[in-house]
Amino acid sequence: MNRPTPTPADKFSFGLWTVGWQARDPFGDATRALMDPVYALEKLAAIGAYGVNFHDDDLIPFGSDDATRDAIIERFRKGLAETGLVVTTATTNLFTHPIFKDGGFTSNSRDVRRFAIRKVMRNVDLAAELGAKVYVCWGGREGAEYGASKDVAVALDRYQEAFNLLGDYVTDQGYDMKFAIEPKPNEPRGDILLPTVGHALAFIETLDRPELVGVNPEIGHEEMAGLNAAAGYAQALWQGKLFHIDLNGQNGPKYDQDLRFGAGNVRGAFWVVDTLLAGGYDGPVHFDYKPVRPETDAGVWVSAQACIDNYLILREKVRAFRADPVVLEALEEAGLPELAVPTLGEGEGWQELQAWPLPDIEALAAREVAMERLDQLALEHLYGVRG
Ligand code: GCO
Ligand code: MN
Ligand code: MN
Repeated sequence: MNRPTPTPADKFSFGLWTVGWQARDPFGDATRALMDPVYALEKLAAIGAYGVNFHDDDLIPFGSDDATRDAIIERFRKGLAETGLVVTTATTNLFTHPIFKDGGFTSNSRDVRRFAIRKVMRNVDLAAELGAKVYVCWGGREGAEYGASKDVAVALDRYQEAFNLLGDYVTDQGYDMKFAIEPKPNEPRGDILLPTVGHALAFIETLDRPELVGVNPEIGHEEMAGLNAAAGYAQALWQGKLFHIDLNGQNGPKYDQDLRFGAGNVRGAFWVVDTLLAGGYDGPVHFDYKPVRPETDAGVWVSAQACIDNYLILREKVRAFRADPVVLEALEEAGLPELAVPTLGEGEGWQELQAWPLPDIEALAAREVAMERLDQLALEHLYGVRG
């Protein structure tokens, strides 16, 4: 098979925690050794990645003293310079240490909340120094298992307070940095606050500086909630809020599988790529996945390469689908160009609409829509029998 070659313009990026996942799960210990971040940079560069993303604790073990921290950062900087990789994004681990057992920004403990925000600010400084433009916030522990143990409305007050404070922080520091909230319905908490793209988009509008905050939708997380991930990406783009993306694979509503991109719901992945291209998304194409637990280091790099390959393959298929004259015809038949025409004409209001002579209702009800044909054409492109 001829695989398209990645280029820096494709902006493929990976979290250090993805390829570096030691495959510890609720039932078993790690199956892979701790990965040296500089080794990760070298291997990522070799497969054609452009950027890297990390949690503070992926790079600097929690509790490291200042001297250790500085030495780690120095070595990482050298690794970046040598590999040419860019730090696109960074994020905070507010979920592993037991202090965050009841959340970070929304913990019932005020001291934990204050510590959580301090931890974020510290890593925002590092992210800014390393040139990251987006700061991801995934609130995995922000939530509860039982109704009475978290007052959702009050917790949202605290969530809002945290983002308002962080907005002040990056503004006062003069950082060119925006935040991207990553929704997830559950896991590790029974129910997580801001569970879907829609919840996050609505929450963002309540903030003091909504322009600084967008979303980082993850395909698997939307699908865990039974939602159509592409539709979530589309609405985020429509609202100018798609600041970052986490691409991976998922097989329906079950635990968070974090499969490599292109595995799992392949049709869903096709429409996600179509949506990103149509909406002109030009941020990092970031993979957030976990190489399956039985794999060794060799399999880690096979899967990382596969994420890139699958994106490039799907992108070619999407482009071929969109350029296919038969598809253009089917789109026309399905009425897509007409959807782009505003419902009211220039200068029309409700009065003109009321004066509008009604069309043939029965004829409209019986009109052809060509939806099955259109979808079959997409499927044939995806299956590789057209194109
Ligand atoms: C998950 C999440 C996490 C976050 C990451 C950023 O799979 O539940 O994707 O991987 O994206 O931790 O904070
Ligand atoms: Mn996930
Ligand atoms: Mn993610």
